[in-house]
Amino acid sequence: MTTAATSTSDAGTVLAADPNWWRQAAVYQIYPRSFADSNGDGIGDLEGVTSRVPYLVELGVDAVWLSPFYPSALADGGYDVDDYRDVDPKLGTIADFDEMIAALHAAGIRLIVDIVPNHSSNRHAWFQEALASPRGSAARDRYIFRDGEGPDGTEPPSDWRAMFGGSAWEPVGDGQFYLHLFAPEQPDFNWANREVRDDFLHTLRFWADRGVDGFRVDVAHALAKDLTYPLRSHAELEKMRLVTDGSHPLWDREELDEIYAEWRAVFDEYDPPRIAVAEAWVEPSRRHRYAAPTSLGQAFNFDLLRADFDADEFRAIIDHNIASVAVTGSSNTWVFSNHDVVRHATRYGLPADHGREGAVGRGWLLSGGATPPVDAELGLRRARAASLLMLALPGSAYLYQGEELGLPEVADIPDAARRDPTFFRSPGVDVGRDGCRVPLPWIADAPSFGFGPAGSDASHLPQPSWFSSFAVDVEDAVPDSTLNLYRRALALRHALQGDEALTWIETGAAFVLAFARPGGWRSVTNFGDAPFTLADGLGELLLASGPIEGRALPPATTVWLRAAG
Ligand code: NOJ
Ligand code: CA
Repeated sequence: MTTAATSTSDAGTVLAADPNWWRQAAVYQIYPRSFADSNGDGIGDLEGVTSRVPYLVELGVDAVWLSPFYPSALADGGYDVDDYRDVDPKLGTIADFDEMIAALHAAGIRLIVDIVPNHSSNRHAWFQEALASPRGSAARDRYIFRDGEGPDGTEPPSDWRAMFGGSAWEPVGDGQFYLHLFAPEQPDFNWANREVRDDFLHTLRFWADRGVDGFRVDVAHALAKDLTYPLRSHAELEKMRLVTDGSHPLWDREELDEIYAEWRAVFDEYDPPRIAVAEAWVEPSRRHRYAAPTSLGQAFNFDLLRADFDADEFRAIIDHNIASVAVTGSSNTWVFSNHDVVRHATRYGLPADHGREGAVGRGWLLSGGATPPVDAELGLRRARAASLLMLALPGSAYLYQGEELGLPEVADIPDAARRDPTFFRSPGVDVGRDGCRVPLPWIADAPSFGFGPAGSDASHLPQPSWFSSFAVDVEDAVPDSTLNLYRRALALRHALQGDEALTWIETGAAFVLAFARPGGWRSVTNFGDAPFTLADGLGELLLASGPIEGRALPPATTVWLRAAG
């Protein structure tokens, strides 16, 4: 057991040992394969991240959340992990990881890593051992193997469907099947197995010892399962989707409390304690279970991400979540974009009725389907307004790489270039998530837009020519670019941030949301179609998400103001 307060890689750190650093952090998600490529193989890597630390400093984020960088065949973009305690050779080495974390810490930026405990990859040593071992063996008990059904045992144990399409059971050729809630390359672990639990505690310590400040927990609500026979049908499970009493056989079960209490004990071995944020797509009233201080401590709310650009909806969501975190003493988590959803600059430009819900914007991208016009100008204006509002809210703001450039979704990736299993396993139904994972444009006038080193045009997903106008060097030079808006907003947020109080200001206009934070900091957003006049009493203008003249706040615009006292 270790009680190390700092890791060997922490030399030169400027981070204070503040146990509450996460409560109102601006966290920048790096999807490493698409961030920066140091060696020209078309795949972003850890050295690429290290080389961009100055960019992150100038942007002004408090922490990085790094999506999976573990050895992986990339059947699901790295969420299919071969080895939890190593770095994918395509992305670098453990030494590169140590260098990256040292550079981040020296720059005052924390690091949260993604951990994927529900399933490993089918190439994980344990799964290979399970395949090579007989039914009923200890090796098979680490995963979820069951005998086939039907007269000759060739039918799957149940009709359950996987999240990426197809059956959730895969035959292994000896009469048994294994469970995979996601792709067949992602066999689910059996969390009732003590070895599985211990191995993850080992993994948490492995990274915490290297100085990692926290963990983002993938599908945190899925680990515990009840596979008591007879298994219910898929239709029954669907009907139970919203149960909130922990009785669903696959999701949000009570046994998770016990699992995460063990994780908490490991987090608390460190000073400051390591933090965690749950990715748990549960009914909002159940979120507090994951956010509890005895559990993971924080849980994502994806409510704003699923909302329309609408004042009433935003206000209800903000109120609800403030009340929800009060139950546990956790802090809020706001997010508009991540590697699983259509980028919000595009989502907000879709026709109002067009699939923003459910598939989170992907409805319009249907393979072979009709593409509705996207109003890119409106989408970006709303995205900038929404982001500025979010950055004034109490709690953590989770930002996804590229949103600080106002980057739109890439809609027209040719089928042959797509990578996401969602596309392959639901042919013609869902084009998947590649459109938000296209490598970032850094330099307008360079091959691969500067994603790779000088002269390299390699990119693991094709970049469209219009990426040039969103390149970092272009936006850097334009004073009111989205990049400069984020930089200014993050710097001001730092300077202004007090405690987590929020007070609504009644403006008399239903299409305007205005709130006050401690110290006279105010945020006002116009969600309507007509300008709104900012009363002088609201304070002096600090920052605007779009052009503004005098005291008239145009539609789809947010301003920050500062009132005396
Ligand atoms: C959620 C991750 O964000 C997503 O990218 C992944 O496909 C699934 N979990 C399965 O690990
Ligand atoms: Ca590379």
